[in-house]
Amino acid sequence: MGIRCLLYVSESCLSWPKDAAEVDHMVAVARRRNEQLSLTGALIYTRTHFAQVLEGEKAAIEDVMASIRADPRHRNLCVVADDPLEERYFPDWTMAYSGPSFYVDRQIRPLLSRATDPARSRRAAAGLLALMREFAAGGGGAAN
Ligand SMILES: Cc1cc2nc3c(=O)[nH]c(=O)nc-3n(C[C@H](O)[C@H](O)[C@H](O)COP(=O)(O)O)c2cc1C
Repeated sequence: MGIRCLLYVSESCLSWPKDAAEVDHMVAVARRRNEQLSLTGALIYTRTHFAQVLEGEKAAIEDVMASIRADPRHRNLCVVADDPLEERYFPDWTMAYSGPSFYVDRQIRPLLSRATDPARSRRAAAGLLALMREFAAGGGGAAN
């Protein structure tokens, strides 16, 4: 069966730096569960938004997405890409994450707005995915 790649963006309900430990805990839990489900990907946290890529079997992605959608630590989740994938972009990462990156909001904001036209959304989604791939290739944070 083929694998898929899903990209979503959302608004954080956490406050920084008060909830720093909460984010680290969430990442640790997510990495364990993703490993069990053979999911890979990356997370970006900008202090106000999240962006996450998930790669793997459709059923595994749906399983985790059900938890993620119900998670009160964020809201207004928008799936901006969900496509078949030939080869994983993040084969070595159960979830690449390297702490808050504050400069990505520019890429995320247009994806959360209903006013953004579809062509611009597609370009913004492709740009965000490229950024996350670059970031994982450059280290992606603590390797665990
Ligand atoms: C922005 C964000 C991204 C998350 N990413 C993942 C993930 O990739 N994998 C995962 O298992 N849980 C992830 N979680 C946590 C899940 O929502 C959930 O708390 C966790 O999987 C435990 O599931 P359960 O509460 O249904 O047992 C994420 C949560 C948030 C807020």
